[in-house]
Amino acid sequence: MSDPRIIVALDYASAAEAQQLVARLDPARCKLKVGKELFVSAGPAFVAGLVDQGYGVFLDLKFHDIPNTVAAACRAAAKLGVWMLNVHALGGHAMLSAAREAVECVPARPILIAVTVLTSMQDEDLAEVGMMGTAQEAVSRLAQLSQRCGLDGVVCSAREVAQLRRERGASFLLVTPGIRPAQAATGDQARVATPREAIQNGASYLVVGRPITQAPDPLAALAAIQREIEFK
Ligand code: C5P
Repeated sequence: MSDPRIIVALDYASAAEAQQLVARLDPARCKLKVGKELFVSAGPAFVAGLVDQGYGVFLDLKFHDIPNTVAAACRAAAKLGVWMLNVHALGGHAMLSAAREAVECVPARPILIAVTVLTSMQDEDLAEVGMMGTAQEAVSRLAQLSQRCGLDGVVCSAREVAQLRRERGASFLLVTPGIRPAQAATGDQARVATPREAIQNGASYLVVGRPITQAPDPLAALAAIQREIEFK
């Protein structure tokens, strides 16, 4: 399996807890996502360690700052050897373009994707911060901007994936969290899709946290999801 479609979210408070799970997984079967909590507590050395263990790492730090600062952060992330990283599309054209140029600093550049609208934001939250139109319209607009600036894709919810696949074409990456295998508990995720639904609707990669991290046998849970997405 050369390019696993499943990205396991390492939502842990410390390197030790995360490493316990990592030791039970397999880089040939999944990629790993490191977000703000684990990055702040465990640091870049931990990320580099995951890369050394052979994992594709999605560094989910959602950079959003002036172009120069974001470019410098993207360069630093690229040099850690991560497979994928992300920025906020709301940073605008200059920031997105600077990020895209910055990741070229290494021979095999990481994939660069954008967050469009946080799924915690409803239409009224957007109006409150001065954004016109619906969240869905903002998602479409920001995905288009991201593609125009040369980004490889966006993070999007299962609800958005079919429309974005139609609008942005076959090669734009759509990375989808909120995935729950058919029998699993939804937890605090309101809009969920099964792995199969998400892939059928056009998701490129699935971000899966608790259904794997809280499973008694994480590798078996991963294998079950894998089987579900291979069954077309
Ligand atoms: O445990 P669960 O599968 O819900 O974890 C999903 C992961 O994807 C978490 O790391 C969460 O922060 C992230 N995520 C999400 N919804 C978004 C964006 C990111 O659940 N809209």
